[in-house]
Amino acid sequence: MAPLSNTAVRDIESLVHPYTNLDAFRASGPLVIESGKGVWLHDSMGRPYIDAMAGLWCTALGYGNGELADAAAGQMRKLSFAHLFSGRSHDPAIELAERLKEMAPVPVSKVFFCSSGSEANDSQIKMVWYMNNALGRPNKKKIIARNRAYHGVTIASASLTGLAANHMDFDLPIAGMLHTLCPHHYREALDGESEADFATRLAHELDAMIVREGPDTVAAFIAEPVMGAGGVIVPPETYFEKIGEVCARHDVLMIADEVICGFGRLGKPFGSEVLGFRPDSISVAKAMTSGYLPMGAVMIPQVMYEALLMEGRKLGTFGHGFTYSGHPVAAAVALKTLDIYARDRIFEQVAAKAPQFQARLKALGEHPLVGNARGLGLIGAVELVADKATKRSFDAKKGIGPRAAAFAEAEGLMVRALAGDTLSLCPPLVISPQEIDEVFDRLSRALDLTLDWVTREGLRG
Ligand SMILES: Cc1ncc(COP(=O)(O)O)c(C=O)c1O
Repeated sequence: MAPLSNTAVRDIESLVHPYTNLDAFRASGPLVIESGKGVWLHDSMGRPYIDAMAGLWCTALGYGNGELADAAAGQMRKLSFAHLFSGRSHDPAIELAERLKEMAPVPVSKVFFCSSGSEANDSQIKMVWYMNNALGRPNKKKIIARNRAYHGVTIASASLTGLAANHMDFDLPIAGMLHTLCPHHYREALDGESEADFATRLAHELDAMIVREGPDTVAAFIAEPVMGAGGVIVPPETYFEKIGEVCARHDVLMIADEVICGFGRLGKPFGSEVLGFRPDSISVAKAMTSGYLPMGAVMIPQVMYEALLMEGRKLGTFGHGFTYSGHPVAAAVALKTLDIYARDRIFEQVAAKAPQFQARLKALGEHPLVGNARGLGLIGAVELVADKATKRSFDAKKGIGPRAAAFAEAEGLMVRALAGDTLSLCPPLVISPQEIDEVFDRLSRALDLTLDWVTREGLRG
């Protein structure tokens, strides 16, 4: 291995990197990214990469957008900070809340701002608990998420996340956070089970869990329309319809975590609209500002807002909020982002580009290493397996997914290796048809190199 550069040593000695094997990292050092334009990134050695992950599922308008930079600079000059505590306000927050209410796929009463997806989901949990106290049902507090869900990493949102790495040795999940089955047809369906039958079984399972726990103890169910970090899992047909009936029957609030799917990823403003999911409450973040500044929000239904009013009368204040709730610079960037989405018909463009993206993705399903190629809109994944016929996975310790992502990186392509040797793709929404082809050409080459490597190492036998 080449000796580490001075920058690498400075990094290793000063930073803790999220989602990184910190021990192995001391030997490998960082990949330092220096600049970005459109869907392209350049590292500190001047090497170009297509970012097929939109950063972390967020830079929907790509890098270096001058209009967003100008919106931020203009707002910083005019009013660089203002808060929303104690009834203070400012125009960017008011206007953004109105715009989100207009766009929402279901009736939204009010909007609460925060700075991340984790904070949005934590706020959801707190408001659900608060609401049920206000409504005189203090035992109705459990929240049901799904295995392989990703809802964030703060203590409560990480508890909803259904991935082992987010729980192990963090003493999570906390009490009252439950996980039901993952709607992953490729992995979880029984032999010969149709998508519709699988969805029926998942709904029965959820129903049985709620009945077992006691419906008067279950407050909410939370779901991503398409699961992202858990493996890009598209639910089986009729899933949300059937799950929705179960939740309605037991008076369980439905929360849509639209942190990835919101703002056009699936070709409509919200992923829920594409999948027949009618949530009560919605979390958003990421593409709301195209990832240019941290911002999240909870889109609150009337029933929850009325409970907040009742608690206000009882307690004298709504004791929740962040310094940066509704930050004016982030709000100004979000407003400009929404303007561009509308002006450039970005969501319609996603719908138009999706067939090409999905066709190239599905074609990778023929590759000897790919057990399952799946996706919707401009999000997708390939799951690498040791044996396609039996769906046998590789030994997780061999790190085939990360190795394949490294081959992609060497080909000038950024993808993300998720648990289960799954490589995800979630490019900026502004990616061109030529760039989509480039993504898949590079990924095919990376998969061939991975195949050569696993064959050489004897890892498929
Ligand atoms: C669906 C979903 N919810 C919540 C989060 C957490 O967001 P953040 O990392 O901004 O806290 C993420 C992050 O990837 C996500 O994908």
